[in-house]
Amino acid sequence: MEKLSIFVETHGCQMNEYDSDRIINSLSAHPVKNPADADVVIVNTCAIRDKADHKAVSAIGRYKKYKISNPNLIIGMAGCVAQLYGKKLIKQIPHLDFVIGPREIGKLKELIKDIKDSSKFKKINTSMDIEEIFKVSPYHEEGKINGFVSIQQGCNKKCAYCIVPTVRGSEVNRPLKQILEESRLLIDQGAKELTYIGQTVNSWRYEGEKFYNLLDHLQELDGLERIRFTTSFPRDITSKMVKSMAKNSKVCRQLHLPVQSGSNRVLKMMNRSYTIEWYRESVLKLKESMPDLSLSTDIIVGFSDESEEDFAQTMQLIEDIRFDTIYSFMYSVRPGTPGEKMSSHVNEEIALDRLHRLQLRQRGITLENNLEQLNKDFDVLIEGASKNNPKDLFGRTSQNKVVNIRNLDSSYIGKIVKVRTKEAHQNSFVGELI
Ligand code: SAH
Ligand code: F3S
Repeated sequence: MEKLSIFVETHGCQMNEYDSDRIINSLSAHPVKNPADADVVIVNTCAIRDKADHKAVSAIGRYKKYKISNPNLIIGMAGCVAQLYGKKLIKQIPHLDFVIGPREIGKLKELIKDIKDSSKFKKINTSMDIEEIFKVSPYHEEGKINGFVSIQQGCNKKCAYCIVPTVRGSEVNRPLKQILEESRLLIDQGAKELTYIGQTVNSWRYEGEKFYNLLDHLQELDGLERIRFTTSFPRDITSKMVKSMAKNSKVCRQLHLPVQSGSNRVLKMMNRSYTIEWYRESVLKLKESMPDLSLSTDIIVGFSDESEEDFAQTMQLIEDIRFDTIYSFMYSVRPGTPGEKMSSHVNEEIALDRLHRLQLRQRGITLENNLEQLNKDFDVLIEGASKNNPKDLFGRTSQNKVVNIRNLDSSYIGKIVKVRTKEAHQNSFVGELI
């Protein structure tokens, strides 16, 4: 088969970004920036919130015109919406050639070959087999400084609001050997910083090894400068994990620890399996051993019958913890989840008002935190041209803060430099080399 050109549109989380890169590699395809130049177009979809199927359908709709001018164009849908509504979508959208779930990416090459060879091929590819689950490694653009490595697929936690266990199945942990091999592959292609991903990464375990041991193994990888991981599950933060993070110099001072709510009553309804006291205690332990640790979290407002008092506890929590970043969402009922069957739901207007109040206060806290970091020195890994000005470069601190540096030449890309922060903004800093 000739080398195919592929255009992938990615919705959703880092796992989907990773899967999109795997899609490119599974076809040994050449990624293009314009769908008009593609032999294959794939929309990699997300089902976590809202009218996900509508969004996915309209995305597929936008590619119809390319099929009119190029009838050989193959259009597919991947990701969680494909997994959830595959059959329905194939019936509904005549120009959609196939759907493929997250667990079948390893079979994509065969599928495209079948499509090209005959009019008879499998349009719906949504099996939950785990056989091919980690088979293909992601495409890595030459010279790109950061990359992702999946260490786990699926989730065993069963939070009442969440569709992930339905669409991605139960937790499957990747063998240590494969994690190390894929890391090596990306490092050899220029990656300096790798983010290890999974729905609850810190619950990873494989043949007697646990997450804290994994960090020790990753620390040993030559050529790797920085290690990040996401998403951590609060109940699975252990003292050994905290120790391992603190002692391994490549592990960044950044942790994403979704709390979802500040109220024990709501956490219980959500089936989150920790109390807010446990969460606060874990944060204390983390901060005690790593005072410069940056924390971020996810919060859902308006879950089930969340009261004003429950919400006040969430507001109090963000006041006390002072997260650097919060990803906050209005609760969206997902089909087939336990949350769907819960009787009372917060009225949308009230939920939206709570979301705005939360986001407003958090913007204040983020800026206050950033201002506290002014005129301080950081190690910054330079990633590339700044988004605001192509003459400037940007990089990130260990805490994952973006720092722009004026008039820096591109030879610095991929290097870790010492920088002093000179301006603090809402989402970034301006710094100078020291
Ligand atoms: N595995 C991760 C993240 C899963 S999804 C975890 O442990 O939390 C990412 C975020 O989306 C969640 O943390 C949650 O805040 C949000 N989310 C998930 N389902 C949602 C729903 N039905 N409505 C609104 N937000 C939701
Ligand atoms: Fe979803 Fe909870 Fe797992 S948010 S991904 S069920 S930890």
